[in-house]
Amino acid sequence: MQASEAEKPRIVVLISGSGSNMVAIAEAVKAEVSDSDNEAEIVGVISNRPNAEGLNKAQALDLHTDIIDHTLYASREEFDHALIRMIEDLKPDLVVLAGFMRILTADFTRYYEGRLLNIHPSLLPKYQGLNTHQRALDAGDDIHGVTVHFVTEELDGGPNAIQAIVPILDIDNAQELQKRIQVQEHIIYPIAVKWFCEGRLTMKGNQALLDGKQLPTSGIQLDTRG
Ligand code: GRF
Repeated sequence: MQASEAEKPRIVVLISGSGSNMVAIAEAVKAEVSDSDNEAEIVGVISNRPNAEGLNKAQALDLHTDIIDHTLYASREEFDHALIRMIEDLKPDLVVLAGFMRILTADFTRYYEGRLLNIHPSLLPKYQGLNTHQRALDAGDDIHGVTVHFVTEELDGGPNAIQAIVPILDIDNAQELQKRIQVQEHIIYPIAVKWFCEGRLTMKGNQALLDGKQLPTSGIQLDTRG
């Protein structure tokens, strides 16, 4: 795609914590820019936590940052409406949730439907919600993983774009497993963002499509078992 300055896809990243996925995406976007004409741009990183470590990382990468402290809002709806206004000021084409630890209202998810991605540390639809690594270990699973999916009203329930499968080792604990999963997060999230920015990854109805073809329920699978 030969994108002109004006057409550069504009990405807004929402974080709450360490921001390692945001950094992986920012570095991939930067590499892409120097590599080809197919440019995208992170136009802002927004955190709901004023002390999120990821804010420092974003500033070190010369990215614009904003803070919107959810504790200052009386309701989830008020917070989400203010968040939409803040995001809209940045005129995004894509909104990326990267460790954004807030449940979003239907007003928010509907507003950004088809241009809102999330990363969830499990092989969705398995293990929606929290403590996914421990739950996979407790269940005695052989494999675990991570999924990038479009966000819909259903929590961790929108259509999958891509997932990485990671083997569970006999000696694993939740922390070790999480470390190996994070390595894969930093690979698959930039891939999904690139696909979206190239216009290859889209959502229609409740389906994710790549190059116009419906993806399997799992999304594209990257199997890291040897
Ligand atoms: C990731 O593990 C992701 O799967 C989950 O939140 C974590 C965010 O990590 N949704 P980071 O802030 O990107 O380092």
